[in-house]
Amino acid sequence: MSEILLDVQHLSHMFRLSKHAAIQAVDDVSFQIKKGEIFGLVGESGSGKSTVARCIMNVFKPTAGKILYHGINVCDPKEFRRNHKMLEATRQIIFQDSASSLNRRMTVADIIAEPMQIHRIKPPRGSYRAEGAFQLYYVGMDDSYLDKYPAELSGGQRQRVAIARALSMEPELLVADEPVASLDVSIQAQIINLFKHCNRDHGHTILFIAHDLSMVEYLCDRVGVMYRGKLVELAPTGELYANPQHPYTRALLSAIPIPDPIAERNRPKTEFDELSFDKDGVFTEMAPGHFVLRKENNR
Ligand SMILES: Nc1ncnc2c1ncn2[C@@H]1O[C@H](COP(=O)(O)OP(=O)(O)O)[C@@H](O)[C@H]1O
Ligand SMILES: [Mg+2]
Repeated sequence: MSEILLDVQHLSHMFRLSKHAAIQAVDDVSFQIKKGEIFGLVGESGSGKSTVARCIMNVFKPTAGKILYHGINVCDPKEFRRNHKMLEATRQIIFQDSASSLNRRMTVADIIAEPMQIHRIKPPRGSYRAEGAFQLYYVGMDDSYLDKYPAELSGGQRQRVAIARALSMEPELLVADEPVASLDVSIQAQIINLFKHCNRDHGHTILFIAHDLSMVEYLCDRVGVMYRGKLVELAPTGELYANPQHPYTRALLSAIPIPDPIAERNRPKTEFDELSFDKDGVFTEMAPGHFVLRKENNR
């Protein structure tokens, strides 16, 4: 059996808005990610994906449940403190808007080098500058950008610098939260290939978050589908595409655009009936490794 790197158990997170109002952003979500796997988490905007990602990265403290990374409960303050150096060095996150969090006063070279310097990692390619150039090359930029400041770059270039910075740490777990949503389509494909390369050649485990299923089929080994804070389906990618069970998954699949405009216009689209959603279903294994949230009496 392959080793479990990340074990999310009954994770819930509620945002309290006022004394009387709260949002249940994540509701009893469980999944595991194996070492060396690319796991996709998919669902429409507001379904709770980023909240899951931020709980995993210790940005939010879950309201309930726990998250084990290498068997360490990262939600337990004591365990977190005891392991925080390892946790910070081996887990990296890229947000859709990572670009906006780059330090405006630092050059690209310094931005990429900073995490390695903080963690006293010797640059594998001799100098931090050489390392920066190498990482830039991988995200499709040349070394003429090393001395530029974020303000001198386009939004897409800034996002790629943020990705280069995360990858410079050779993270064991990379959480990529809609990392390419702000990039041009041609660059999107390049970054997706980069993730594939990181996984295949460097063994990085990746949690890849997306709001639709279009890129997931190519990239991910297994996929979890979220709807309104619940995980409604989880399956190996091929199985999910061939045999989707939950009506919401079917709707997401039918929304993947077909490149041929005529075929795209004529194909039937499946709509999801929100009123039919039963969040109190049971997460049931229908086929090996294929789980679906469904009503208990619906066997
Ligand atoms: N910091 C926050 N404060 C209050 N509500 C939030 C906050 N972040 C997210 N939410 C709410 O939680 C729900 C899930 O959001 P999010 O995890 O960002 O979903 P996704 O990433 O799938 O779009 C949404 O209803 C969103 O409005
Ligand atoms: Mg999000």
